[in-house]
Amino acid sequence: MSKLNSPTKIKIAPSLAAANLLQLGDEVKKLEQAKVDAIHFDVMDGHFVPLLTIGVPILEQVRAVTSLHLDVHIMVTNPDDVLDDYLKAGADTLSFHIEAARHAHRLCTRIRQAGKRAGIALNPATHWQNIEFLLPELDQVTLMTVNPGYSRQQHILSMHNKIGEFANFCRAQNYAIDICIDGGVNLGNASTLAQLGATILVAGGAVFNGGNTVESVQALRAAATAG
Ligand code: DX5
Ligand code: ZN
Repeated sequence: MSKLNSPTKIKIAPSLAAANLLQLGDEVKKLEQAKVDAIHFDVMDGHFVPLLTIGVPILEQVRAVTSLHLDVHIMVTNPDDVLDDYLKAGADTLSFHIEAARHAHRLCTRIRQAGKRAGIALNPATHWQNIEFLLPELDQVTLMTVNPGYSRQQHILSMHNKIGEFANFCRAQNYAIDICIDGGVNLGNASTLAQLGATILVAGGAVFNGGNTVESVQALRAAATAG
């Protein structure tokens, strides 16, 4: 498995679903040049969230052309049924939504048994205490700072209390869990998020903004480490 290195440094994970989908191979190459820490691979099923996006066949093709860490976020109503397909297709980290899982503990176990990193994503309305008893089974928790479903939405500022509270809890309990922030991350909030305790910043619109992808990643990394 390609590792997510440097537990102390903030990691940048651009969301591929926000890239030019007709040029995915080139977009992946640019992310390699930009030395991103991971590619965030959003899967939407048209049920849990309104849109349908990329899924297993594209994940397999991305896996075939890159050794970058693939952080797969499945926004689907039936993670229990499709989890294994995404593990086989090449996910390094696999995050499912707690709101959709029937047997979340079993899913975490299945991900780890496959030698992959287990993650859970929480919608803005979901309290982190809902997964308190699963934390020993997790490598990553993704706190959504938008309602999932679309790139380029406005970052929900009131989630900052939740991020800070959760990060403090993990620190106090000595849980080495990556705290991934997903939704509306940009140059203006990256530093605050890092200070609150985020260790991975997902970015769609902030990276794929019509400008130079490599420079956008560098700018976001610089913003996240400033202050
Ligand atoms: C939201 C997705 C995000 C999103 C990120 O449903 O999970 O990963 O595409 O895009 P931005 O950074 O533009 O909010
Ligand atoms: Zn996502």
